[in-house]
Amino acid sequence: MTARTYAIRTYGCQMNEHDSERIAGQLEADGLVLADSPEDADVVVFNTCCIRENADNKFYGHLGNMKTVKEQRPEVEIIVSGCLAQKDRDLVRQRAGHVDVVLGTHNVHRAVELLHASRENGPITEIWDEALDEADSFPSALAVKREIDYSAWVTIQIGCDNTCAYCIVPAVRGKEISRPFGELVEQVEGLAADGVYEITLLGQNVNSYGRDLTSARRTEERSSTDERVAGPLWAADEARRPRPLFADLLSAVSNIEGIGRVRYTSPHPKDFRQETIDAMAANPAVCEHLHLPLQSGSDSMLAAMHRGYTADRYLEKLVAARAGIDDLAVTTDIIVGFPGETDDDFERTLEVVAAAEYDSAYTFIFSPREGTEAADLVEQFCDPATVAERFARLRVVVERSALIRHRARIGRIEEIIVEGPSKRDAGVLSGRTRQNKLIHFPCDKPLRVGTLATARVTDAGTFYLHGELVEVLASPRHRTRIPVAAG
Ligand code: 5AD
Ligand code: SF4
Repeated sequence: MTARTYAIRTYGCQMNEHDSERIAGQLEADGLVLADSPEDADVVVFNTCCIRENADNKFYGHLGNMKTVKEQRPEVEIIVSGCLAQKDRDLVRQRAGHVDVVLGTHNVHRAVELLHASRENGPITEIWDEALDEADSFPSALAVKREIDYSAWVTIQIGCDNTCAYCIVPAVRGKEISRPFGELVEQVEGLAADGVYEITLLGQNVNSYGRDLTSARRTEERSSTDERVAGPLWAADEARRPRPLFADLLSAVSNIEGIGRVRYTSPHPKDFRQETIDAMAANPAVCEHLHLPLQSGSDSMLAAMHRGYTADRYLEKLVAARAGIDDLAVTTDIIVGFPGETDDDFERTLEVVAAAEYDSAYTFIFSPREGTEAADLVEQFCDPATVAERFARLRVVVERSALIRHRARIGRIEEIIVEGPSKRDAGVLSGRTRQNKLIHFPCDKPLRVGTLATARVTDAGTFYLHGELVEVLASPRHRTRIPVAAG
C-alpha cells in the first residue's frame, strides 16, 4: 500500500512556518509522507495568519477552491490551523463546511489526534483560549519535520504582552511565556549534534525573554532549579533581580559547538538594550543583522500606536548598535496609513527611514483588525488613495538606501551558505550571507544545499547581490532527514 500524503500551505510569519514544521512532524509520525504536488495530497493543512486583511482573503480564496477538490475526492481531509482559526473560530466552519479539523494557536500539538477523532465523529473545531500545557505550546519542543537540514527555528517565547494598537497578535497568541533557559540550550545542543549550523531564535518580543521567568523566582529562595530555568548567570546572582535574559541566552547558544550562525527575530525597540548589542558583538556566531521594527517615524503616531519609544530614541539605539557591531545590516517593518496619520507624520517617517539607511524594509498598509484598538478609530482612517501614494514614496526611499548599501558591498568577500539553484537559472546558485542577503553566483560544481563557502560580491541590486564563488569552506554536516525530536 502506498503511504497517504499531506501538503501544508503556510501563511504569515516564521512562527507559523515553524508551527507548520510541527504539524508536518506529527503527520509523518502518523505514517504520512509529503505529497509531490499539493493537488494530490490526502491531507491538506492550511496554517493561517490574520495579521493583515490580505492574508485572510488569500486563505479564504484557497479554502474555497478546496471545495471543488473535496467534491471530486471526498476522501481528502482538510485541517485549518493557526492565527486566523484562533481569531475567527466558528466563522471558518461557517464559510467552509468541508473542513474536517479547525484548531488554534495553542493546540497545534493536537492536529493528528483531532484528525483521527474527526474520522470517527465528523468535523471538529477545537480552539483553546490559552496554553493549557506550556510544554506542548512551544513549537520547538516536540517532533519537528524541518524543511532545511542546516538551519532550525527555536521558539524562545510565545505570546506578547505589548499592546500595539494595530496588532492582533496578543489576542491570538496570548500572554508572553518564556521557555526555560536550560531547555533551550539543550535543544540547540541537540540540533548542533544533528548537524544544524544556523539557528533563528523566535519570539514576538525576544528582548523581554526571561522577564517572566525571573520575576516569578525573585522572591523565592535559591533553588537547584534556578540554573535550568533562568541560566547560570542569573542563578549565580545574589540580587535575584528580575531581568530579561536575552543577552545571556544569545551568548549561551552562540557558544555551542557546531553552531556558526545565530539569528533572532523580532526585538522590540523599546526593550532593545546595550547588553544585547554587547552580546552580538562579543559572539562571532551571532549574525551581523538586526531587524528592528520602526512602524512609524512620527512621535505622535508612535504614541498612538503605544510603541513606547520616540523616533530619536529609536535612532539612538540604532547608532549604538552600529557603533557596537561591525558591518551591521539593519532591516525594519513600517506601517503606512495608521489612523490619523497626516502628511507631516508621514514626512517624519521618510526622514527617519532615510536617516536609518536600511538594507531593506517590510512595508505595510495599515489594515484594521477587528478587536484591536486601532480598528475602532474609523473616523481617523486615512484616505486609501493618499495611503497608496505614501506607500509608493516610502518604497522609493527604502529601495534607494537598499541599493546604496548593497552597492557598497561590491568587491567584498562574504561568507555564504548555499540555499540551492537560483529560481531563474539552474547554472546559478543562491546563497545567504551573514547579513541575510541573497547572493547569486554562477557555479558549475554541484554544491550541496548547506555548503559553507565564500563569495566575492561583483554586482548589486535592490534586493540581492551577484557574486563569484571564492572558496568552499565546509560541506553540510547533517546526517538525517528523519523528523527530529528536540528539547
Ligand atoms: N496593519 C498593517 N500592518 C501590521 N503589522 C501588524 N499588524 C498590522 C496591521 N494591523 C505589521 C507590523 C509588524 C509586522 C509583522 O506586521 O509592521 O511589525
Ligand atoms: Fe504585535 Fe506589538 Fe506584540 Fe509585535 S510587539 S506582536 S506588533 S503587539
